[in-house]
Amino acid sequence: PKVVYVDTAGVERVVDAAVGESAMSAAVRNGIPGIIGECGGNVSCGTCHVWVREEFRAGVGAPGDMEDDLLDLGVDDRRAGSRLACQIPLTTELDGIVLDVPPEQV
Ligand code: FES
Repeated sequence: PKVVYVDTAGVERVVDAAVGESAMSAAVRNGIPGIIGECGGNVSCGTCHVWVREEFRAGVGAPGDMEDDLLDLGVDDRRAGSRLACQIPLTTELDGIVLDVPPEQV
């Protein structure tokens, strides 16, 4: 599936991801600025925060409990579409998903 990462300047970067790969892993593998994935996908760092565009939120689903807690405590600027990209497994149904990337995460 293709994944579109959009930075705060509106620049789109399109990545070809493997089915089952996470949106964090696909981003890191392709050097998408702003997605770090420091904990390697263990729901403990919050450096893979993204905002899922509204039309894709139903397909992505809601965050799990641990993710929800980390979104509350560990990320700046939590919004309606906030998710941890490491917790978004990519599927063919999600082809073309658009993720807005926060300006910087450390
Ligand atoms: Fe650390 Fe997603 S990579 S929470």
